[in-house]
Amino acid sequence: MAETNTIFVGSDHAGYSLKKTLLEILKKDLPNLRFEDCGTDTEASCDYPDFAKKVATQVVHKQTRGILICGTGIGMSIAANKIHGVRAAEVWDATSARLCREHNNANIICFGARLVGPETAIDICKTWLKTEFLGGRHQGRLDKIAELERKQP
Ligand code: RB5
Repeated sequence: MAETNTIFVGSDHAGYSLKKTLLEILKKDLPNLRFEDCGTDTEASCDYPDFAKKVATQVVHKQTRGILICGTGIGMSIAANKIHGVRAAEVWDATSARLCREHNNANIICFGARLVGPETAIDICKTWLKTEFLGGRHQGRLDKIAELERKQP
């Protein structure tokens, strides 16, 4: 299946405000991409695995990418990585965002609204969205990760 240009974005209550800010800016600055908000839609307390599941499922089915935001990014990355085919990376700056794409072909990035400010979050997203996977020696390592999904030791 071809990679679509829709980026699925989700958060829990802790990431809601940062997600709103980010979506406004990304939609304006990156008109060639489509951003789809998978919730949450309020600041009412909710459970991050529900939104990790929504975004991760879309990313795998549509062969595209996703962005998940919670308080720390940690819960979202743990939950998203339970879905087969997801390589979710917790990132905290543009360098980690670039490397998780170049080396790990991360199809989801997660970060924490309580740890990362709006400017860094924008930098993270723009860097990650424009970076390509390097392939080569890194592909063999990803094949080993996929094998771990198929066969538990
Ligand atoms: C919510 O308080 C917080 O636990 C959640 O946003 C996230 O940081 C979990 O990893």
